[in-house]
Amino acid sequence: MRVLITTVFFVALAALVGCSGDPEATPPLRLVREDPTNLPLRGLTDEEQAGFTRGDVLFDREHLPSQGLGPVYIRTSCASCHARDGRGPGLVERAIEVGEDGFTPLPVQAAMPYGPVLRPYYVAPATRSIDVVAGSTARLLRSVRIGPAVFGRSWMEAIDEAEVVRVAADEARVGRVHGRVPRLADGRLGRFGLKSRVATLEDFAADAFRGDMGLTSPVFPTEVANPDGLTDDGRPGVDLTMDTVRDVGAYVAALAIPRREGLTAEGRAAFERARCSDCHTPSMRTRADARPRVLSSANAEVFTDMLLHDMGRELADGSAEAGAGPRDWRTAPLMGLRHFRSFLHDGRARTLEEAVRLHGGDGSDANDSVAAFDRLSPTDRALLLDYVGRL
Ligand code: HEC
Ligand code: HEC
Repeated sequence: MRVLITTVFFVALAALVGCSGDPEATPPLRLVREDPTNLPLRGLTDEEQAGFTRGDVLFDREHLPSQGLGPVYIRTSCASCHARDGRGPGLVERAIEVGEDGFTPLPVQAAMPYGPVLRPYYVAPATRSIDVVAGSTARLLRSVRIGPAVFGRSWMEAIDEAEVVRVAADEARVGRVHGRVPRLADGRLGRFGLKSRVATLEDFAADAFRGDMGLTSPVFPTEVANPDGLTDDGRPGVDLTMDTVRDVGAYVAALAIPRREGLTAEGRAAFERARCSDCHTPSMRTRADARPRVLSSANAEVFTDMLLHDMGRELADGSAEAGAGPRDWRTAPLMGLRHFRSFLHDGRARTLEEAVRLHGGDGSDANDSVAAFDRLSPTDRALLLDYVGRL
C-alpha cells in the first residue's frame, strides 16, 4: 500500500511539473485506475435499481446465433465495445466515398452499397460480411470510432432541451464558438452518438442491438441491408422483446459519472482561460421531470454543450448524420478520462495534451482555444491537463 501511495504521489508530481514522454505514464490513468466505472446513480428507487440490475446482465451478455445474432454483425455484446461501461476496446470501422476535398461524401456510394459501416462477421445463412466492394478504386475516407464510454450519459439524457437551445444562442451571441443544435428529422433533439444522431438511450440500445449485433427488436424489426439480401437470420422473426430494449436503456440511463476528486480552482481557471469551457460547458440544468428522479432539477456536470461543432478537415470522417455534417462532432463530454488509454473519436491522441493540439486544424471551431492553450504558461498548462484528467 505504501509503495502504491508513493507511486501515485510521484506520478501526480510528474503531472504538475509537466513531465511527459512515455504516454503509458500519463498520470491521470494511474491515479484511480481501480475505481469502478460501472456504478449506478446514488438514490435510485428500488424499482429503478431492479431495472438497472436486469439491464446490467443484458449489457454483458454474449449473444449467439440461436438468439438472433447476425446475419452480419460487428461484436456479440455491448460490453465488448464498452467494457465496464468505459471506452472500447471494440470499435466500428467505416468507409465513405468522398470527393476531391477528401471529406465531402459523394451522392452515390458505389463502393459501400450497404452503408458506410463495415460489418466483419456473418453467420449462416449469410455467406458474406460487409466490406468495401472488391476491386473498388473509389477515393475512400476510412475512419474508426472506438466505442465511447456510456457512463454518465444518464445526465446527458436529463438535460433540459431549453437549456441546450439557450447555450447555442449564447454561443451565437458571444461569437467565440459556433455550436449548432442537433435536430433529428422528426424535430427531436439529438443527444447520443458522436454526431448526435439519436434522441434517447432506449433508442440507442435498440439501434446498437441491430446495427452492431444484428439483433432486431420491436423498435427496429428488420435486419440491416446485407450482400446476401437476407431479411432474417437463423432465428425467425424479431429477436428481442421490448422489455429487453427497455432494461438495457434503463441500465445506461442510470449509470453515474465516475468519481471526481482533487479538482483545483487553479486548474479550473486555466480551463476557462484556454476557453475549453466555451464548448465543454461545465454544467447544464436538467428537466424537472427527468428520470431517474435523482436527476431532476439538478446541475448536470457533463462538460459538454451538447452541440455540434465544425472541427475542421483533419478530424473529418466524411459522415453526414442527422443534423451533423462531414466535419462536425458533438462536443465530447469530459468524464472519467483517467480510465481511457486514448482520446478523440478514433483514439488518435495518446495523451490529453495531444488531444488538445489535435482540436486545431483547417477550419476548426476550436482553433482560438488551442491558441489560448498555447499561450498559457507551462505551469498553467500542466494544471489544466491535471484538472481535465480528474473530470
Ligand atoms: C461494435 C462495437 C459496439 C457495440 C457492440 C456496441 N456499441 Fe455502443 N457505441 C459504439 C460506437 C462506435 C459508438 C459511437 C456511435 C456513433 O457515433 O454513432 C457507440 C455509442 C453508444 C452510445 C452513445 C454514447 C454517446 O456518448 O452518445 C450508447 C448509449 C451505446 N453505444 C450503447 C450501446 C449498447 C446498449 C450496446 C448493446 C446493445 C452497444 N452500445 C453496443 C460501439 C459499439
Ligand atoms: C469548439 C469547441 C471545442 C473547444 C473550444 C474545445 N473542445 Fe475539446 N472537444 C470538442 C469536440 C467536438 C470533441 C470531440 C472531437 C473528436 O472526437 O474527434 C472534443 C474532444 C475533447 C477531448 C477528448 C475526449 C474523449 O472522450 O476522447 C478532450 C480531452 C478535450 N476535448 C479537451 C479540451 C480542452 C482541454 C480544451 C481547451 C484547451 C478543449 N477541449 C476545447 C470541442 C471543443
